[in-house]
Amino acid sequence: MRLCPILTVDIDWDNLGFGFLPTDYMYVMKCSQGGNFSKGELQRFGNIELNPSAGVLNYGQGLFEGLKAYRKEDGNILLFRPEENAMRMRLGAERMCMPSPTVEQFVDAVQATVLANKRWIPPVGKGSLYIRPLLMGSGAVLGLAPAPEYTFLIYVSPVGNYFKEGVAPINLIVEHELHRATPGGTGGVKTIGNYAAVLKAQSAARAKGYSDVLYLDCVHKRYLEEVSSCNIFVVKGNVISTPAIKGTILPGITRKSIIDVARSQGLQKNFLSKLPVWQSFLEATFDFSDPKAASGSVWMICQKSFQSQEVEERLVAVDELLDADEVFCTGTAVVISPVGSITYLGKRVSYSNGGVGAVSQQLYSVLTRLQMGLIEDEMGWTVEL
Ligand code: COI
Repeated sequence: MRLCPILTVDIDWDNLGFGFLPTDYMYVMKCSQGGNFSKGELQRFGNIELNPSAGVLNYGQGLFEGLKAYRKEDGNILLFRPEENAMRMRLGAERMCMPSPTVEQFVDAVQATVLANKRWIPPVGKGSLYIRPLLMGSGAVLGLAPAPEYTFLIYVSPVGNYFKEGVAPINLIVEHELHRATPGGTGGVKTIGNYAAVLKAQSAARAKGYSDVLYLDCVHKRYLEEVSSCNIFVVKGNVISTPAIKGTILPGITRKSIIDVARSQGLQKNFLSKLPVWQSFLEATFDFSDPKAASGSVWMICQKSFQSQEVEERLVAVDELLDADEVFCTGTAVVISPVGSITYLGKRVSYSNGGVGAVSQQLYSVLTRLQMGLIEDEMGWTVEL
């Protein structure tokens, strides 16, 4: 289809939240059960027609993804790890008995949709274009079975901060009755039903003034799983811990990126425990009769050492929240959200004196500067359009 070149949009870029704003185009591609996706196309954004008996409407046969595009200072656009979303959708589709686009089809479709809606990408520093790929059983079924036809669709919307708190710390409550996922269930894939399942606890929490809900595992009711829309990390000393991926937790792309960033930052763990070794290294390396040069170099090394973190993916017990130094959440929509307090069985624990902890701050800064193209992408994660 021919795209109309309309250049500006009438939006208050300073007050973008995470609400839906209709844009110009969406991408649509269809496939029959047992077939392959092909001949996708951009269409004007609008409502879609679905048979009332569509698999997605009746039996929840649907998946979604979320990724973001950022505008760079030079006007180019950056996508963050789109092939990771493509691969996650393929894994989810296998679990939900659906065909899925190839990684190449997915990434090409994302690029085409972003370019067609370029004018909706917020200016540098004002937010991003949230990209929402959907995969759904669009064919009609009545008896319980995979749908006979599937639709892959991408729409986009400009967004700012996810939580109303903005970048300020959020307040969570631990849910001890309702659960998000069960072993052997679909908690580890991004199926639409996982998100409907959290609405009840989330609404109750919001009515009491909390930002969101932190779920526990349903077997022991003791180990952290995730927050309704994001993964969770707990910081204690030089160690960052996060629940291991074991089928009930969504394998977040931001989660995975943060683990890699934290592990690759600076020199290896626990500078203090290696102080004697460092001392002899520093004395042998720097001329301490030139205090300015020496202190600059020492400062650089100290900084790098203190920034580095060990990351553990493991079972994280809810009691560990009691003496954690920092807690933060990660997700495409939430990016990195520091947690100000967590309430569990009526007891409230606060972190970082209500401010943003140093580790969350540092990881947020590295990740967002990488996503916006403000630092060199040594990881090779960004795709420039
Ligand atoms: C995302 O972070 O992209 C998600 O899919 C979470 C969603 C509930 C907004």
